[in-house]
Amino acid sequence: MLKVPYVTGYLSEHFGDDGFGTLSGYEARGGYRGLRQALDTSPEDLIELLKSSGLQGRGGAGFSAGMKWSFMPTDSDRPKYLVCNADESEPGSFKDRILLERAPHQIVEGILIAAWATGAEKTFIYIRGEYAFPADQVDRAVAEARERGYLGAKVMGKDFAHEIVVTRGAGAYICGEETGLLESLEGKKGLPRKKPPFPAQYGAFGMPTTVNNVETFSHVPHIVCKGADWFRGFGTEKSPGTTLFGVSGQVQRPGLFELPLGTPLDEIIFEHAAGLLEDRPVKGVIPGGMSMPILPANQLDVPMANEFLRERKTMLGTGGIMVMDDTTCMVRVACVISYFFRDESCGQCTQCREGTGWMNSIVERIERGAGEQSDLDILLDVAGKMEGQTICAFSDAAAWPIQGLLRHFREDFEAHIRGKKCPFPGSFEL
Ligand SMILES: Cc1cc2nc3c(=O)[nH]c(=O)nc-3n(C[C@H](O)[C@H](O)[C@H](O)COP(=O)(O)O)c2cc1C
Ligand code: SF4
Repeated sequence: MLKVPYVTGYLSEHFGDDGFGTLSGYEARGGYRGLRQALDTSPEDLIELLKSSGLQGRGGAGFSAGMKWSFMPTDSDRPKYLVCNADESEPGSFKDRILLERAPHQIVEGILIAAWATGAEKTFIYIRGEYAFPADQVDRAVAEARERGYLGAKVMGKDFAHEIVVTRGAGAYICGEETGLLESLEGKKGLPRKKPPFPAQYGAFGMPTTVNNVETFSHVPHIVCKGADWFRGFGTEKSPGTTLFGVSGQVQRPGLFELPLGTPLDEIIFEHAAGLLEDRPVKGVIPGGMSMPILPANQLDVPMANEFLRERKTMLGTGGIMVMDDTTCMVRVACVISYFFRDESCGQCTQCREGTGWMNSIVERIERGAGEQSDLDILLDVAGKMEGQTICAFSDAAAWPIQGLLRHFREDFEAHIRGKKCPFPGSFEL
């Protein structure tokens, strides 16, 4: 089990307690009350509740969960499915892992409420292959829930049937993209699908499907029990609720901190994560997993919610905060990031397949001391052509961090080109 320090809120309140991961431990703390309440509420009212809570998906794009549920057709006699996206492959992100390990019943309860609201008869939990222990925890929770009558032909004795199937991925980042995931779930290569049709029309095995992230489902029981106004009491007007910020990098206390959306980035780094190792200055911070553009040290006052982060040309993403100190070579950071995306592109779209390769070759050339000034324009040109033109958002996600590094740390790139070598001998090694 991953050992990390926490700041707790309603999602993570019992993470540290023995037995919270078990059915008896979860129920002793009020678990499954939300499901009981939900089953006495009409699906329409539940969807309205979710919409008015303002819960945004926590898988990266921040789309309204209630709105997404409302897209599921109500006039179809085809089976409807849910998918819980537990692929979590975004470098810098580990919140879903902890939720899966410590609070699997919270996820199962959220799924069952969503299933009742959307009329889904089956849920597929798709777990990243490397997450062996978290997957075991979920398997156990699903078996316990079935034994207790929370799954199966009559959920809690009501006229409502639901089943959960746990499947494991095989370690490709692109299988976190929802349609790549669906293909992989069906036993095929994880190649993202062209949209439309969207999963609500044509999802898993061609059936209407709603895909939500692990954390998104985890908020649901709390909203049902305590109401939309309670949920809106946390966070900002446009981004309600708490979220799990995972802080890594050169900080004294890396860990998972459940805090209201809108908490200033500097509070998270200097209070909760206890500041930098050896009290060195910050050079840059990636605020939401590796696909999100970096922020420089003079922008750490930003409240961590999309409406504020967008003004700084970045996004909340998965809330995975990566902190880098003043020894860091930002060209090496570009090498690491571009290598990852080059390796993980599924190759269907030319811009993405070729663009990720070109970006990686150019930044590695600059890092070696063999770059030219014109390389910087070529980099920006390639990155610009990768945005908004491809089957899925992977290509954009590969371009944004490179654009961000050039926006804020162009001088690092130019110093390599001028000096024909890396000017940061104390930086991490490639
Ligand atoms: C390249 C790529 C990778 C993604 N990886 C994940 C992932 O690992 N987990 C996740 O929940 N969403 C991931 N997403 C987002 C999903 O496509 C989808 O939007 C999300 O699961 C929806 O859940 P939500 O509405 O609850 O956030 C990824 C998207 C892209 C473009
Ligand atoms: S954008 Fe990249 S990862 Fe997405 S479908 Fe196209 S080639 Fe594959």
